[in-house]
Amino acid sequence: MQIAVYPGSFDPITSGHVGIIERGLCVFDKLVVAIAANTRKQPLFSVEERIDLIGRCFEGNDRVEVDSFGGLTVDYVKSRGAKVILRGLRAVADFEYELQMANLNRKLGPGVETLFMMTGEEYFFVSSQNVKEIGLLGGDIQGLVPPVVEEAVRARFGAERGEVQP
Ligand code: PNS
Repeated sequence: MQIAVYPGSFDPITSGHVGIIERGLCVFDKLVVAIAANTRKQPLFSVEERIDLIGRCFEGNDRVEVDSFGGLTVDYVKSRGAKVILRGLRAVADFEYELQMANLNRKLGPGVETLFMMTGEEYFFVSSQNVKEIGLLGGDIQGLVPPVVEEAVRARFGAERGEVQP
């Protein structure tokens, strides 16, 4: 059974992430979508909320497991009996960061390999960061994120703006 770990912040999961997971399932038997709990970023959604949102996107699909971890990604990957870190790659902007991370992870965890999958071109411009910015400013994020996430982002920022949720 080929398992890959797809680690990230997923704050929140976007349509680009969903595409990587769907296509990753064509290559691996099982994907563990793993939320790194201890990043320096200040999240919009708690780890529990992010787990719930991702879980709802893949409800009924037993080849996708959603989890969170503290500590190093490579240690988590090994603890799951996996050897592969799956990462999506958008345009050139991602390259240097991903190259650094892949090389560091190889040094930290020899035997664990990072595999990259090009993000679907329709999502090349989508990031969790710009979804949050658009949401904060009351813009339309339809299609950039799955419908459950669209609702959650709208509710979060709507509540901050003092809007009453239906
Ligand atoms: O979605 P992101 O924020 O680009 O994901 C980055 C992530 C979470 C994969 C990376 O920060 C990470 O692996 N964090 C866990 C700590 C770790 O292993 N750091 C060493 C790798 S540079």
